Amino acid sequence: MSSSDSQTTRRRPDTGQLVASERLHTMGQLVAGVIHELNNPLTIVGTNLQVLVEYVQQQQELIDRYENQGPEAAKAYAEEIDLPYLRTDLPRILSSCQEGALRARQLVDELRRYSIANSPEVTPVDVKGNLSSTVRLVESSYRNKVTFELHTEQCPPVMGVNGQIQQVLMNLLINACQAMNDRPTMGHISIRTRGDGTNVYIEIADNGPGIPADVLPRIFEPYFSTKSPADGTGLGLPISKRICEKHGGSLVVASTVGQGTTFTITLPVEGSPELLADPSLPYEV
Ligand SMILES: Nc1ncnc2c1ncn2[C@@H]1O[C@H](COP(=O)(O)OP(=O)(O)OP(=O)(O)O)[C@@H](O)[C@H]1O
Ligand SMILES: [Mg+2]
Repeated sequence: MSSSDSQTTRRRPDTGQLVASERLHTMGQLVAGVIHELNNPLTIVGTNLQVLVEYVQQQQELIDRYENQGPEAAKAYAEEIDLPYLRTDLPRILSSCQEGALRARQLVDELRRYSIANSPEVTPVDVKGNLSSTVRLVESSYRNKVTFELHTEQCPPVMGVNGQIQQVLMNLLINACQAMNDRPTMGHISIRTRGDGTNVYIEIADNGPGIPADVLPRIFEPYFSTKSPADGTGLGLPISKRICEKHGGSLVVASTVGQGTTFTITLPVEGSPELLADPSLPYEV
C-alpha cells in the first residue's frame, strides 16, 4: 500500500474537531510563556507583601507604644522606624501590588478568552481589540526574541465569528515568531490594518528568513510542516485560509528569502452569505 493510500484509508478526524484541536495545540505553545510572564507580577506582589507585613507590624507597635507608654515613647519609636520614609513607601508598595495583580489578571483573562470554545455566532468583530489582546498573549512567550509594532488606525468591525478570526491572528503571529526563533538578533513583526469601506485588510509582516521557493506553494496544504512533529502539525495555515474564505475573504502570502514574509488577511465588513447562513459548517481541511 502506498503512503497516499494509507492516508486516504486512515480515519480522519471530524473537521470541527480538527479546528478545536489546532486551537488547543496553539494554546499549548503559549502556556510556557504565559506561566513565565505570570511569575514576574506574582514575585513582585509576594515581595511587596512581605514589606507590607513589616510596615503594618511597625505601625501597630507605634500605636501600642503611644497607648501604653505615652507620646514620648511613640516619638522615639517613630524615629527608630523612620516613619516619614514608611509613609511615602507605603503607597508605592500598595500600587506596585495592585499593578502586579492587575497584570496577572489581564494575562489570565486573555488566555481564558482565547481558550473558551467559541459559540459559532456571527457578530460584529472588533479586529483592533482582537489584535491587541492576541499580540499581548504572544508577546509573553517571545518577549526576548521579537518586538511588535501595531498600527491599527482604520479598522471598522467586520461581521464574523470572533473566535475564528482570533484563531487566524494567533496562528499567523505564532508562525512569524517561530520563524524568527533562531535569529541571533531580535526579530520584528509589524502589524497593519486598513479599510476601504468594503473590506478590512490585516497585514502581518516579519523580518524572518522568508519561505524558500520550493516550500512556498505547499504552505497551505493540510499537514505540511517544516517543523518537528512536536512543534508543528501543519494545520495552522490551511485552517486559517479556510476561516478567511468562509468569511468571504482571503489569506495570501508574499515572501522573500532573506528578507521576510508578509501574510495579508482580507475580510469583508459585511461578512459572507455562506457564514451568515451557517457559521458552524465544518471546514474542509
Ligand atoms: N512567517 C513565516 N515565515 C517562514 N515560514 C513560515 C511562516 N509561516 C509559515 N511558514 C511555513 O509554513 C509551514 C506551514 O505553516 P502552518 O502554520 O500551516 O503549520 P506549522 O506552523 O508548521 O504547524 P502548526 O501551525 O500546526 O503548529 C511552516 O511549517 C513553515 O515552514
Ligand atoms: Mg503554524
